[in-house]
Amino acid sequence: MRVIVESDSETVARSAAVFVAALVRKKPTCVLGLATGGTPLGLYRELIRLHREEGLDFSRVTSFNLDEYVGLPPTHPQSYRYFMKSNFFDHINIDQRNTHVPDGRAEDFEEHAEEYERRIKEEGGIDLQVLGIGSDGHIAFNEPGSSLGSRTRLKTLTSETVRDNARFFDKPEEVPRLALTMGVGTILESRRCLLLACGKHKAEAIRATIEGPVTAQITASALQLHRDVVAVVDEEAATNLWRRDYYREVEQAQQALQSGKFKFLGQ
Ligand code: PGA
Repeated sequence: MRVIVESDSETVARSAAVFVAALVRKKPTCVLGLATGGTPLGLYRELIRLHREEGLDFSRVTSFNLDEYVGLPPTHPQSYRYFMKSNFFDHINIDQRNTHVPDGRAEDFEEHAEEYERRIKEEGGIDLQVLGIGSDGHIAFNEPGSSLGSRTRLKTLTSETVRDNARFFDKPEEVPRLALTMGVGTILESRRCLLLACGKHKAEAIRATIEGPVTAQITASALQLHRDVVAVVDEEAATNLWRRDYYREVEQAQQALQSGKFKFLGQ
């Protein structure tokens, strides 16, 4: 796993946007996997800026979101469809018919989940999946104990997640207890994963994800099995990482190699 430690959430957002923008430029028909929550907001702001100021073109991009609350209509301000529309889609030139968010009001959730998986395959799979992480180590809504081979399905949220997400609702009892979510297995099939984390409250989950054992109790740790994961975290989220200095050295060596300034032995 490549680990990039940035000073704060602003630099995390800019650094993450570089990866997304490079893909959109290289492959204008790419398939993006997108996430909601507080963490990717800065990334979306930066991508909107790149669209406005540098003409970053999303017109042929397709997107699939990780998850959606069960029971909320797409017009509900706390639904993830609404979140994506108001924080990202409405401000870029993506064709909104090519944006996919699971339907939290589907009549048959099992059938809808299967259809969602089918649609991802039909589009050729996800090129880059943006991920936040829960304080309980979840990716998407794959709560502790989720199968590491899981596919899109219904999931019951833990009380920790309900508490974490209550800040977006007027009253804690309004937070939905169920969500439709891509599975860990679905996420692992993406060609690249971009894991973002900011703040001290993510430090333990990030340590367990990057340096702990692979376990279904921290579903993000399954990313260790993926061949191309970039984790971009801020100093606070990196607090508990034992190998911080090494990750920095790797980035410095990488930059030196790219700029032709790497000193080979004997030179
Ligand atoms: P956050 O949520 O970005 O709002 O911290 C992350 C998550 O629960 O996956």
